Amino acid sequence: TDLDLIRNFSIVAHIDHGKSTLADRLIQLTGTVAQRDMKAQMLDSMDIERERGITIKANSVRIEYPAKDGKRYILNLIDTPGHVDFAYEVSRSMRAVEGSLLVVDASQGVEAQTLANVYHALDAGHEIVPVLNKVDLPAADVGRVKTQIEDVIGLDASDAIEISAKSGLGIPDVLEAIVTRLPAPKGDRDAPLKAMLVDSWYDSYLGVVVMIRVIDGVVRKGDRIKMMQTGAVYGVDKLAVLKPQMVDIAELGPGEIGIWTGSIKQVRDTRVGDTITSEKKGCETPLPGFKPAQPVVFCGLFPVDANDFDTLRDAIEKLQLNDSSFSSEMETSAALGFGFRCGFLGLLHLEVIRDRLEREYDLDLITTAPSVVFHLHMRDGEVLDLHNPADMPDLTLVDHIDEPRIKATILVPDEYLGDVLKLCQDRRGIQMDLSYAGSRAMVVYDLPLAEVVFDFYDRLKSVTKGYASFDYVISEYREDYLVKMSILVNDEPVDALSMMVHRDRAEMRGRAMVEKLKDLIPRHMFKIPIQAAIGGRVIARETLSAMRKDVTAKCYGGDASRKKKLLEKQKAGKKRMRQFGKVEIPQEAFISALKMD
Ligand code: GTP
Repeated sequence: TDLDLIRNFSIVAHIDHGKSTLADRLIQLTGTVAQRDMKAQMLDSMDIERERGITIKANSVRIEYPAKDGKRYILNLIDTPGHVDFAYEVSRSMRAVEGSLLVVDASQGVEAQTLANVYHALDAGHEIVPVLNKVDLPAADVGRVKTQIEDVIGLDASDAIEISAKSGLGIPDVLEAIVTRLPAPKGDRDAPLKAMLVDSWYDSYLGVVVMIRVIDGVVRKGDRIKMMQTGAVYGVDKLAVLKPQMVDIAELGPGEIGIWTGSIKQVRDTRVGDTITSEKKGCETPLPGFKPAQPVVFCGLFPVDANDFDTLRDAIEKLQLNDSSFSSEMETSAALGFGFRCGFLGLLHLEVIRDRLEREYDLDLITTAPSVVFHLHMRDGEVLDLHNPADMPDLTLVDHIDEPRIKATILVPDEYLGDVLKLCQDRRGIQMDLSYAGSRAMVVYDLPLAEVVFDFYDRLKSVTKGYASFDYVISEYREDYLVKMSILVNDEPVDALSMMVHRDRAEMRGRAMVEKLKDLIPRHMFKIPIQAAIGGRVIARETLSAMRKDVTAKCYGGDASRKKKLLEKQKAGKKRMRQFGKVEIPQEAFISALKMD
């Protein structure tokens, strides 16, 4: 295809501003999918994504569009994930296209993820067309939002396109703008093959499917190609474009986007951002800036029913086929039995995976408190990654500990600013910037990631009644006074409850935990001390008094459905108690203690 007749673009938006609805409209208006096949949110292929309205895996569609100039154009839309956990994937896939539609909800205005995503687009050198969506809503304020786009982002919004993705108003203008305002790709058909690996996923019929953007050269069915980072060589068994269903194609040339398959065993072998070239006479230098996505948030996943361990292991293996950014390792815990220590890109990623395990594999899981990866600088000069507080070595061997810090951007209506500043301050935050866009404040904070994975999103939502938006990038690892806090029940340490905390916050966290446990552990015939300790030093203590005759049962917390399930399982005669020295603790107590509230 003639390069001048190709346009490659992505849509950047804050969650819920209408990215998927607009993509659906573009597909519909160009007749890419027959009307009867159109389902809402065509591009979000997994059920869970549709249900939660979150686009997790990048996806793509090729649209053919007859423009007003009488020519037929090929428009390639790459659907990028919208959430902060997937920032690396967003920034990579943006490099595969030349332009972006910046969609802003005209009744809401610019939000934190609008900013984060538009910065990725600008970094990638994109031409950007601002699109104001939802102009059908009475609350839409086009003038105000245009000013905001200019003031906050610094983009000219005078020729922003006003649309309603819902009603279809303005969609033809969007298609024309893609052709007239976004640049055509550049590339050399005669140069050695150079293509970017944009995304990959596991398909139960085809195996691993790899999406690529060709920069230079041509790839044909049957070619032998090489991944430059891994050095692996594969044959191209199938070459296709997504419309959005796969349609076979003989070749892909410069500027084109498509998928191929070749007996690749696991998604792990395909790294987003890797450069693909021919096995023989390939290109010499790979595309710049490759780095594999690294898990930053870790937690333990344990089956409530020990008999489910094998099911859990199989389920994790299956999910990993499709998501190489999620890691796992077997773990055993005296409190929780056999399970896995798993690593994720962020909290949302964790939640999505846990949900899929529970739903698609019908598992009932216990999740331990999420923690981040600490760097332990040992006295002997070695640097160790700590993924699990339970693995913390003897303190005397550790010189100092570095923790990951983030740069967080929060947009919030004026009246909640005070509460947001207080929350960030409480979480060891350092204010870096504060500015205004109309009646909304934009604050930038330097925060420890460890404090954010604890319950920051939930707190932020509740203090701002849901009006704040939040986004972050990991900025650096920095030293702080961090310690491992252990929990002891009747002088026996309970591994699943130990955590890394800042020394100044240890008393508070320790107090909260022992108080909670006091309500959760049933009384015994003797007194039970419940303690939080750092090394050998006790920092908080409660005592559970001995049982009196009239005390019959305890009522545990926890959400209703899970509690019901547990009760049913207990009825089945499988009441699970864990033994800690002389103390018996129901597993349910751990589940409740690990719940963040
Ligand atoms: P994520 O996939 O979560 O990132 O959201 P999104 O940006 O793709 O938003 P989506 O297209 O799912 O739209 C969010 C909500 O806004 C849905 O309930 C849509 O029906 C609604 N919506 C989208 N466009 C319009 C519009 O033009 N007008 C009105 N009134 N509602 C719209």
